[in-house]
Amino acid sequence: MSSGGSVSARGALLLVGGGGHCRAVIDVLERIPVAVAGIVDEARASGTVLLYPVLGCDEDLPDLRSVYSLALVTVGQIKTPLVRQKLFARLEELCFDIPTPVSPLARVSPHALLGKGSVVMHQALVNAGTVIGKNCIINSQALVEHDCRIGDHCHIATGAKLCGGVETGEGVFVGAGSVVREGTRLGKNCVVGMGVCVRHDVPDGGRYVG
Ligand SMILES: CC(C)(COP(=O)(O)OP(=O)(O)OC[C@H]1O[C@@H](n2cnc3c(N)ncnc32)[C@H](O)[C@@H]1OP(=O)(O)O)[C@@H](O)C(=O)NCCC(=O)NCCS
Repeated sequence: MSSGGSVSARGALLLVGGGGHCRAVIDVLERIPVAVAGIVDEARASGTVLLYPVLGCDEDLPDLRSVYSLALVTVGQIKTPLVRQKLFARLEELCFDIPTPVSPLARVSPHALLGKGSVVMHQALVNAGTVIGKNCIINSQALVEHDCRIGDHCHIATGAKLCGGVETGEGVFVGAGSVVREGTRLGKNCVVGMGVCVRHDVPDGGRYVG
């Protein structure tokens, strides 16, 4: 589903992770609009995030599954993709439907593909021929140009720019405002710091801060 689709009251969406990225995703979901059921948060089992109730913590997911069928990982990701990877696997194991929300303020080419559970935030642009894996964050104002291949569990942070034909392994982070030269390959689990220009390939697990 490319925009989160229509969601009935019973089919309202659970958000797994209640921090800053969750609040930004809520802003996207309200714009689509998608009904938010509430939040699942490891740190606390009650309270609210923006106006939405915290319904439980991670261990409550099996019980929540008997009530809700839709869920999305809304934990952020910088130095490691592990938490998002683990939560995504858990949602799949529990047979949740995992949507692919796209902000109406973003532009995703009809010739691009987005994997399950990936989110495209406000004013991001994903151009023709690009394939984005599962459970990725294409954050606000990020640009993923034509013919890129983005692996599963990657985060292209706010305002980052990937030129045409960039490839990433899974679990990659590209920091805010960074620019990656066309055709460059970023290896699995590598971290590119904010505000840097990447002109050469980065190996698996590498860290590049310019
Ligand atoms: C790469 C990064 C993850 C490293 O974080 P860290 O392990 O906590 O390391 P530090 O920030 O303490 O940096 C250690 C050193 O690396 C260098 N460094 C780190 N990031 C850098 C960057 N982006 N550009 C240039 N140098 C950098 C600096 O020399 C720094 O030393 P200093 O503290 O004396 O300035 C972090 O710096 C970063 O860029 N985070 C991304 C932030 C971002 O894009 N957020 C967007 C969320 S949407």
